Amino acid sequence: MIICSCKGITDRDIHAAIAWMRAADPATIITPGKVYHALGHRPDCGGCMPLFLATMRENAQLEVPIHLRNLKRANTGS
Ligand code: FES
Repeated sequence: MIICSCKGITDRDIHAAIAWMRAADPATIITPGKVYHALGHRPDCGGCMPLFLATMRENAQLEVPIHLRNLKRANTGS
């Protein structure tokens, strides 16, 4: 399914980019910008961003690595 009509990015492209980034660096924080970059694009109109984000959130590999969670809370002591 086409997610970004400006750049022709599909849901499969997004999931493939996330899988590639996670395999390349298990500790990386994956953002929409990084996904665009991995696919060789930059966002244009931004109209796809809600669907782009929803598609990213469907991917189990998107999660922040466990050792990077709650860092702010750990550093502030709250
Ligand atoms: S639809 Fe994705 S940048 Fe325009």
